[in-house]
Amino acid sequence: MRAASTSGERMAKRRVAILISGRGSNMAALLAAARSEDFPAEIALVLSNRPAAKGLAAAREAGLATAIVDHTRFGQDREAFERALQAELEKQQIDILCLAGFMRLLTPWLVSRWHGRMLNIHPALLPAFKGLDTHARALAAGVKIHGATVHFVIPEMDSGPVIAQGALAVRDDDTPDTLAARVLALEHRIYPAALRLVAEERVRVVDGRCVIDGAAVSDHVLLVPADEA
Ligand code: GRF
Repeated sequence: MRAASTSGERMAKRRVAILISGRGSNMAALLAAARSEDFPAEIALVLSNRPAAKGLAAAREAGLATAIVDHTRFGQDREAFERALQAELEKQQIDILCLAGFMRLLTPWLVSRWHGRMLNIHPALLPAFKGLDTHARALAAGVKIHGATVHFVIPEMDSGPVIAQGALAVRDDDTPDTLAARVLALEHRIYPAALRLVAEERVRVVDGRCVIDGAAVSDHVLLVPADEA
């Protein structure tokens, strides 16, 4: 498949695999974006480490190629799990990996193979609130601004150059659930935007920071909804 580049010529669509473990709402947002003719990436594979992941069923219904690499089959051997995962990615000739609620820590073995080509979405404004339960922790800390981050994956968990962030105001009456719901809506906007930039090869990492070619700081990389301003 072909897509228009920013300069107007046609370039091949990047082949993307989305890695999930559960619900798959970010996966669905990426799928929806990729349906546009001008989106520079196609979703070539949805892979889950959990056979029962809800998102897998949705991917199948959408007619996508899916694969399961069940981590429990590999016991403590993380690298064996990753070798099996890598084999599925190679079968589909994947160019870019998007982690979307993929609940496995990855070793340097896999991460190094996908250097600059593996993205993750995290439900907090990194480097704040790495790890789990980000919304409850943000509320407990009393931060006034919270949000989500798309970043390149490096061996350290929830670290790596930031590609895009979405921010919103924390409300006095927010609960972890209400905050999570508003952040999730932001996630669904920044992840496709970040993937577009990476697939168009407009993201360069300079001294550990992402520089976006052809963009001022804009709604491509920083999203603050008007109703939150
Ligand atoms: C999202 O909040 C994402 O930021 C985090 O895990 C959650 C996955 O949700 N990494 P979904 O499966 O995409 O709905």
